[in-house]
Amino acid sequence: MSTPATTPDATTQAAHLTRELARIVVVGHVDHGKSTFVGRLFHDTGSLPEGKFEAIKATSEKRGMPFEWAFLMDALQAERDQGITIDTAQIWFKTKKRDYVIIDAPGHKEFLKNMISGAASADAALLLIDAAEGVREQSRRHGYLLHLLGVRQIAVLVNKMDLIGNDQGKYDEIVATYRDYLASIGVVATHFIPIAARGGDNLVNRSGDMPWYTGPTVVEALDDFKPSAPSAAHALRVPIQDVYKFDERRILVGRVEAGHFKVGDRLIFSPSNKSARVQSIETWSAPGLTEAEAGRSVGFTLDEQIFVERGEMASHEADAPIETDVFRARLFWLGRQPLEIGREVKLKLGTLDVPVRVQSIEAVIDTGDLSRRTVARVERNDVAEVVLRTKRLVALDSFTSNPQTGRFVIVDDYDIAGGGIISMEGYPDQRQSVTRRATNLVHAEYEIDRAARARRNGHHGAVLWFTGLSGAGKSTLANELEKRLFARGFHVYVLDGDNVRNGLNADLGFSPEDRAENIRRVSEVAALFAASGTVCITAFISPYRADRARAREAAGEDFHEFYIKADLETCEKRDPKGLYAKARAGQIPQFTGISAPYEAPDGAELVVDTSLSGIEACVDQLVAYVIENLALTKVGA
Ligand code: ADX
Repeated sequence: MSTPATTPDATTQAAHLTRELARIVVVGHVDHGKSTFVGRLFHDTGSLPEGKFEAIKATSEKRGMPFEWAFLMDALQAERDQGITIDTAQIWFKTKKRDYVIIDAPGHKEFLKNMISGAASADAALLLIDAAEGVREQSRRHGYLLHLLGVRQIAVLVNKMDLIGNDQGKYDEIVATYRDYLASIGVVATHFIPIAARGGDNLVNRSGDMPWYTGPTVVEALDDFKPSAPSAAHALRVPIQDVYKFDERRILVGRVEAGHFKVGDRLIFSPSNKSARVQSIETWSAPGLTEAEAGRSVGFTLDEQIFVERGEMASHEADAPIETDVFRARLFWLGRQPLEIGREVKLKLGTLDVPVRVQSIEAVIDTGDLSRRTVARVERNDVAEVVLRTKRLVALDSFTSNPQTGRFVIVDDYDIAGGGIISMEGYPDQRQSVTRRATNLVHAEYEIDRAARARRNGHHGAVLWFTGLSGAGKSTLANELEKRLFARGFHVYVLDGDNVRNGLNADLGFSPEDRAENIRRVSEVAALFAASGTVCITAFISPYRADRARAREAAGEDFHEFYIKADLETCEKRDPKGLYAKARAGQIPQFTGISAPYEAPDGAELVVDTSLSGIEACVDQLVAYVIENLALTKVGA
């Protein structure tokens, strides 16, 4: 037996700081021998508190029970729960090469919650499969969750080899099956190792019963893992945790989650978009520090007293996070209540807590065969793709560009109910839509007001904003409405997507950002038309709610949103420009409704359903609205 190590205390912890540290997670069903494995690993690496093993062994014997490693882990867990050992949250063991923290203690029922809380991001994972059971649904699920959490280094341990007679053929079969599954989700396991945790086979010591296995032991595999790619290589991200006020100075406090910054750097705070230079970096442990990098919690002061609060994200200006009020999420749901469309829960993004609503549920993913199902609600333990919407803009990253700030946790009923990773596919960064670059502007007052123009024209100026899928009938209805209003003496003009994109917006394509910019410009132009007294009809898909909300803001009370409604099937059947056929054939990327999102309005002034009524009836509906809402007595009689 190896020499037992001493209890990790403050001194050993301090010593740890000078050694390399890797955080690992041990994943597997309790029945697959997780506690036994961890207990044995601690013992064999000499990491158990002194006398602990002997004490538990003696107790077992006194009670006439065979010794179980699980008892030992339960005892350690109980001590941690009572705060007896100093190191309450994490368990340590060490090899010659480095120290290890096991993020999830065995017997920890909160395993998934721990993992998704993000604080517990692992460098690597050990995944246990029971050799006697083979690859089951749960092993697939665990692999998928690791993939979802972004753990890229995985050693698969085929446990209880003794139960299958240490048979190489059976082992190879399990490995092949599981390797195929992992490959299908894009994961390559770093190692596969046959073990028997109870006897300590291939953990620290090589097994005499499996001479055919020549690969690394578990400890060798662990030492072979690389600590996570240093997030210092990513763009700077400091979620602001607190702002302390000392006399005149304000000290901003937060943990550098990625990247690094130094005194003198200009930082921008999102989503308020205020910026200032770093004047000083303040820490207790390292006075005089002029640079801070990923992993360090720092306080810093700015050269200007701008108002910044908890929840904002500091970054460099050139590589700022995305600003959005909508994003796609791949999440797993642990909540007691199912997650339904329209349901509001709490989103935790770094230091920010905001309400978030489920806008749509795209699919639930079967982690066994990766098939997708359309569902009305996400049940407990489901993995789902959803679209989430916040009320205000938030700062975030997509998981692929920044794993630390590209994940989130959901809280429901004061309990962690889910977590996942962010994708912005199909949605724009709205930063450009809210950024003002010009300064030193003075607003010019006009002397002819809206009322005077309305009196002269006999009607109010307005923006009649048509939104809907391509083929829903926006252009057709816009033109018909224009003719009818013109005949009645209205000053009316149509701005149409295809036309404007040939001129004013010829520089824009159909990426999410380009569409947002397309709509931003059109919103401003339409608002000017309205201010000049004209009834401006706009016919643009305008797929994003946030853009239409800004269009409304630009025109104020002159804005009227008309949802030109027709479902995708109807539009595709009509296909007036033959574009749906091309999109289905993969010839038009990011086509709205097919491969790009459309967010239907939820508070339109008027819904015109062109799949239910003919053109005439729809135009009548529109004309009636305009007469009622915009006409003074002179026109429209
Ligand atoms: S928007 O999304 O930015 O509001 P807009 O209304 O200006 O779109 O332009 C839509 C028109 O462009 C469609 O009616 C269609 O004729 C054409 N179009 C070309 N490519 C696409 C695409 N990828 N998605 C949608 N429409 C497209």
